[in-house]
Amino acid sequence: MPSPNPQWKPGDTVEAPPGKTIELDPTKIPAKEIYKLIIGSIVPRPIAFVSTISAGGVTNLAPFSFFNGVSSNPPCVMISISNKEDGSKKDTLRNIEETKQFVVNSANEWLAEPLVHTAASFPYGVDEMSVVGLTAEPSLKVKPPRVKESAFQMECELYKTVEIGDGSAGSTTVIFGKILFMHAHESVYKDGRILFSEYKAIGRLGGFSYGRVTETFDIPVPRVGSDGPSGG
Ligand SMILES: Cc1cc2nc3c(=O)[nH]c(=O)nc-3n(C[C@H](O)[C@H](O)[C@H](O)COP(=O)(O)O)c2cc1C
Repeated sequence: MPSPNPQWKPGDTVEAPPGKTIELDPTKIPAKEIYKLIIGSIVPRPIAFVSTISAGGVTNLAPFSFFNGVSSNPPCVMISISNKEDGSKKDTLRNIEETKQFVVNSANEWLAEPLVHTAASFPYGVDEMSVVGLTAEPSLKVKPPRVKESAFQMECELYKTVEIGDGSAGSTTVIFGKILFMHAHESVYKDGRILFSEYKAIGRLGGFSYGRVTETFDIPVPRVGSDGPSGG
Protein backbone atom coordinates (compact mmCIF):
# COMPACT_ATOMS: atom_id res chain seq x y z
CA MET A 1 0.00 0.00 0.00
CA PRO A 2 1.65 3.31 -1.11
CA SER A 3 1.84 6.18 1.39
CA PRO A 4 -0.60 9.10 0.89
CA ASN A 5 1.94 11.03 -1.21
CA PRO A 6 4.94 8.88 -2.12
CA GLN A 7 6.36 11.74 -4.26
CA TRP A 8 6.65 14.12 -1.26
CA LYS A 9 10.12 15.50 -0.45
CA PRO A 10 11.31 17.91 2.29
CA GLY A 11 10.33 21.49 1.47
CA ASP A 12 7.30 20.57 -0.66
CA THR A 13 4.22 22.58 0.24
CA VAL A 14 1.30 20.86 1.96
CA GLU A 15 -2.08 22.56 1.55
CA ALA A 16 -4.07 23.51 4.67
CA PRO A 17 -7.76 22.55 4.49
CA PRO A 18 -9.74 25.25 2.65
CA GLY A 19 -11.90 27.69 4.68
CA LYS A 20 -11.49 29.57 7.95
CA THR A 21 -10.43 28.34 11.39
CA ILE A 22 -12.93 28.41 14.27
CA GLU A 23 -11.36 29.56 17.55
CA LEU A 24 -12.37 27.51 20.61
CA ASP A 25 -11.50 28.76 24.10
CA PRO A 26 -11.99 25.96 26.67
CA THR A 27 -12.60 28.52 29.46
CA LYS A 28 -15.78 29.58 27.59
CA ILE A 29 -17.06 26.10 26.68
CA PRO A 30 -19.02 23.77 29.07
CA ALA A 31 -17.06 20.65 30.11
CA LYS A 32 -19.52 18.34 28.30
CA GLU A 33 -18.86 20.15 25.02
CA ILE A 34 -15.10 20.09 25.57
CA TYR A 35 -15.40 16.33 26.10
CA LYS A 36 -17.07 16.02 22.68
CA LEU A 37 -14.27 18.00 21.03
CA ILE A 38 -11.60 15.89 22.70
CA ILE A 39 -13.15 12.51 21.86
CA GLY A 40 -13.92 13.63 18.30
CA SER A 41 -10.46 14.99 17.60
CA ILE A 42 -8.23 12.46 19.35
CA VAL A 43 -9.11 9.45 17.22
CA PRO A 44 -8.98 6.56 16.96
CA ARG A 45 -8.31 5.87 20.64
CA PRO A 46 -7.09 2.45 21.74
CA ILE A 47 -9.35 0.79 24.29
CA ALA A 48 -8.21 -0.89 27.50
CA PHE A 49 -10.70 -3.54 28.61
CA VAL A 50 -9.79 -3.41 32.29
CA SER A 51 -10.42 -6.20 34.77
CA THR A 52 -10.03 -5.52 38.48
CA ILE A 53 -11.04 -7.18 41.71
CA SER A 54 -12.37 -5.64 44.93
CA ALA A 55 -10.78 -6.29 48.32
CA GLY A 56 -13.80 -8.55 48.91
CA GLY A 57 -12.97 -10.62 45.81
CA VAL A 58 -15.62 -9.47 43.29
CA THR A 59 -14.36 -9.09 39.71
CA ASN A 60 -15.12 -5.95 37.69
CA LEU A 61 -14.72 -5.27 33.96
CA ALA A 62 -15.02 -1.98 32.04
CA PRO A 63 -13.60 -0.27 28.93
CA PHE A 64 -11.42 2.88 28.97
CA SER A 65 -10.29 4.71 25.85
CA PHE A 66 -8.26 7.43 27.53
CA PHE A 67 -5.56 4.79 27.45
CA ASN A 68 -2.10 4.31 26.06
CA GLY A 69 1.30 2.74 26.46
CA VAL A 70 3.70 5.24 27.99
CA SER A 71 7.07 3.52 28.43
CA SER A 72 8.86 0.26 27.74
CA ASN A 73 11.52 0.36 30.48
CA PRO A 74 9.86 -0.11 32.86
CA PRO A 75 6.94 -1.24 30.71
CA CYS A 76 4.03 1.03 31.65
CA VAL A 77 0.53 1.91 30.50
CA MET A 78 -1.85 4.66 31.54
CA ILE A 79 -5.61 4.76 31.85
CA SER A 80 -7.61 7.79 32.80
CA ILE A 81 -10.72 7.25 34.93
CA SER A 82 -13.10 10.16 35.36
CA ASN A 83 -15.48 10.62 38.27
CA LYS A 84 -19.17 9.83 37.77
CA GLU A 85 -21.76 12.60 37.30
CA ASP A 86 -22.35 12.66 41.08
CA GLY A 87 -18.61 13.03 41.70
CA SER A 88 -18.21 9.45 43.03
CA LYS A 89 -15.48 7.05 41.91
CA LYS A 90 -15.99 4.38 39.25
CA ASP A 91 -15.69 0.77 40.43
CA THR A 92 -12.47 0.23 38.46
CA LEU A 93 -10.77 3.10 40.29
CA ARG A 94 -12.07 1.96 43.69
CA ASN A 95 -10.70 -1.52 43.06
CA ILE A 96 -7.31 -0.32 41.80
CA GLU A 97 -6.96 1.92 44.83
CA GLU A 98 -7.87 -1.01 47.09
CA THR A 99 -5.73 -3.74 45.54
CA LYS A 100 -3.11 -1.79 43.47
CA GLN A 101 -3.61 -4.24 40.62
CA PHE A 102 -5.43 -4.49 37.29
CA VAL A 103 -5.33 -6.29 33.95
CA VAL A 104 -5.55 -4.57 30.56
CA ASN A 105 -7.25 -6.94 28.13
CA SER A 106 -7.05 -6.10 24.43
CA ALA A 107 -10.11 -4.74 22.63
CA ASN A 108 -10.44 -6.98 19.58
CA GLU A 109 -13.23 -6.80 17.04
CA TRP A 110 -14.91 -9.99 18.24
CA LEU A 111 -15.28 -8.44 21.71
CA ALA A 112 -16.98 -5.20 20.59
CA GLU A 113 -20.55 -5.85 21.80
CA PRO A 114 -19.77 -7.36 25.23
CA LEU A 115 -17.08 -4.69 25.73
CA VAL A 116 -19.55 -1.85 25.23
CA HIS A 117 -22.14 -3.65 27.38
CA THR A 118 -19.75 -3.64 30.36
CA ALA A 119 -19.68 0.18 30.22
CA ALA A 120 -23.26 0.35 31.53
CA SER A 121 -23.63 1.67 35.08
CA PHE A 122 -23.80 -1.63 36.91
CA PRO A 123 -23.94 -1.22 40.70
CA TYR A 124 -20.75 -1.73 42.70
CA GLY A 125 -20.24 -5.45 43.34
CA VAL A 126 -21.69 -6.65 40.01
CA ASP A 127 -19.26 -8.88 38.08
CA GLU A 128 -19.61 -7.59 34.50
CA MET A 129 -17.43 -10.40 33.18
CA SER A 130 -20.04 -13.00 34.06
CA VAL A 131 -22.93 -10.69 33.12
CA VAL A 132 -21.68 -10.51 29.52
CA GLY A 133 -20.59 -14.15 29.43
CA LEU A 134 -16.83 -13.71 29.09
CA THR A 135 -14.45 -16.19 30.73
CA ALA A 136 -12.29 -15.28 33.72
CA GLU A 137 -8.83 -16.78 33.27
CA PRO A 138 -6.56 -16.69 36.35
CA SER A 139 -3.63 -14.27 36.09
CA LEU A 140 -0.08 -15.27 37.02
CA LYS A 141 1.18 -12.22 38.94
CA VAL A 142 -1.96 -10.36 40.02
CA LYS A 143 -5.31 -11.20 41.59
CA PRO A 144 -7.71 -9.78 38.97
CA PRO A 145 -8.48 -12.41 36.33
CA ARG A 146 -7.86 -11.93 32.60
CA VAL A 147 -10.47 -12.11 29.85
CA LYS A 148 -9.76 -15.40 28.12
CA GLU A 149 -11.40 -14.29 24.87
CA SER A 150 -9.12 -11.26 24.41
CA ALA A 151 -6.01 -11.74 22.26
CA PHE A 152 -3.51 -9.95 24.49
CA GLN A 153 -3.50 -9.29 28.21
CA MET A 154 -1.20 -7.22 30.40
CA GLU A 155 -1.07 -7.90 34.13
CA CYS A 156 -0.31 -4.59 35.84
CA GLU A 157 0.50 -3.22 39.26
CA LEU A 158 -0.22 0.37 40.21
CA TYR A 159 2.88 2.53 39.58
CA LYS A 160 1.55 6.03 40.24
CA THR A 161 -1.68 8.04 40.19
CA VAL A 162 -2.10 11.65 39.09
CA GLU A 163 -5.21 13.63 40.02
CA ILE A 164 -6.59 16.04 37.42
CA GLY A 165 -9.28 18.55 38.46
CA ASP A 166 -10.92 19.45 41.77
CA GLY A 167 -12.84 16.20 42.35
CA SER A 168 -16.11 17.37 40.78
CA ALA A 169 -17.84 15.56 37.88
CA GLY A 170 -15.40 15.10 35.00
CA SER A 171 -12.36 15.26 37.26
CA THR A 172 -10.02 12.42 36.54
CA THR A 173 -7.53 10.06 38.11
CA VAL A 174 -4.78 9.01 35.76
CA ILE A 175 -3.52 5.54 36.62
CA PHE A 176 -0.05 4.51 35.58
CA GLY A 177 0.48 0.76 35.71
CA LYS A 178 3.67 -1.25 35.48
CA ILE A 179 3.26 -4.32 33.32
CA LEU A 180 4.32 -7.40 35.28
CA PHE A 181 3.38 -10.03 32.73
CA MET A 182 1.92 -10.31 29.23
CA HIS A 183 -0.09 -13.04 27.52
CA ALA A 184 -0.52 -13.24 23.74
CA HIS A 185 -2.79 -15.68 21.97
CA GLU A 186 -0.75 -17.72 19.50
CA SER A 187 -3.01 -16.66 16.62
CA VAL A 188 -1.87 -13.02 16.95
CA TYR A 189 1.81 -13.55 17.86
CA LYS A 190 4.84 -14.42 15.73
CA ASP A 191 8.57 -13.94 16.39
CA GLY A 192 8.10 -11.37 19.17
CA ARG A 193 5.57 -9.27 17.23
CA ILE A 194 1.83 -8.83 17.20
CA LEU A 195 0.22 -9.76 13.88
CA PHE A 196 -1.86 -6.69 13.11
CA SER A 197 -4.07 -8.42 10.54
CA GLU A 198 -5.08 -11.12 13.03
CA TYR A 199 -5.26 -8.82 16.07
CA LYS A 200 -8.25 -6.86 14.72
CA ALA A 201 -7.98 -4.00 17.19
CA ILE A 202 -10.91 -1.64 17.52
CA GLY A 203 -10.58 2.03 18.39
CA ARG A 204 -13.05 4.45 19.88
CA LEU A 205 -14.08 7.50 17.87
CA GLY A 206 -16.49 10.34 18.78
CA GLY A 207 -20.06 9.67 19.95
CA PHE A 208 -20.97 5.97 19.91
CA SER A 209 -18.67 5.21 16.99
CA TYR A 210 -15.83 2.70 16.76
CA GLY A 211 -13.37 2.00 14.00
CA ARG A 212 -11.26 -0.81 12.65
CA VAL A 213 -8.04 -0.16 10.74
CA THR A 214 -8.52 -1.82 7.37
CA GLU A 215 -5.76 -0.07 5.45
CA THR A 216 -2.20 0.65 6.53
CA PHE A 217 0.89 2.12 4.85
CA ASP A 218 4.57 2.17 5.80
CA ILE A 219 6.82 5.26 5.95
CA PRO A 220 10.22 4.53 7.53
CA VAL A 221 11.66 7.41 9.59
CA PRO A 222 14.71 8.70 7.67
CA ARG A 223 18.14 8.54 9.24
CA VAL A 224 19.56 12.00 9.87
CA GLY A 225 23.25 12.53 10.68
CA SER A 226 24.59 9.88 13.06
CA ASP A 227 21.13 8.84 14.32
CA GLY A 228 20.57 5.12 14.76
CA PRO A 229 17.47 3.43 13.41
CA SER A 230 14.35 5.11 14.70
CA GLY A 231 10.96 3.60 15.34
CA GLY A 232 9.30 6.64 16.94
C1 LIG B 1 -15.39 2.33 24.56
C2 LIG B 1 -15.54 3.06 25.86
C3 LIG B 1 -14.47 3.79 26.35
C4 LIG B 1 -14.58 4.43 27.60
N1 LIG B 1 -13.51 5.16 28.05
C5 LIG B 1 -13.57 5.71 29.27
C6 LIG B 1 -12.42 6.42 29.80
O1 LIG B 1 -11.38 6.53 29.16
N2 LIG B 1 -12.52 6.94 31.05
C7 LIG B 1 -13.65 6.80 31.79
O2 LIG B 1 -13.68 7.29 32.95
N3 LIG B 1 -14.74 6.16 31.33
C8 LIG B 1 -14.72 5.61 30.10
N4 LIG B 1 -15.80 4.92 29.62
C9 LIG B 1 -16.98 4.76 30.49
C10 LIG B 1 -16.78 3.60 31.48
O3 LIG B 1 -16.52 2.38 30.81
C11 LIG B 1 -18.06 3.46 32.32
O4 LIG B 1 -18.21 4.61 33.12
C12 LIG B 1 -18.11 2.21 33.17
O5 LIG B 1 -19.41 2.09 33.72
C13 LIG B 1 -17.12 2.21 34.31
O6 LIG B 1 -17.27 1.01 34.97
P1 LIG B 1 -16.89 0.74 36.46
O7 LIG B 1 -17.72 1.66 37.35
O8 LIG B 1 -17.22 -0.70 36.64
O9 LIG B 1 -15.42 1.03 36.61
C14 LIG B 1 -15.76 4.33 28.35
C15 LIG B 1 -16.86 3.62 27.82
C16 LIG B 1 -16.74 3.01 26.58
C17 LIG B 1 -17.92 2.26 26.03
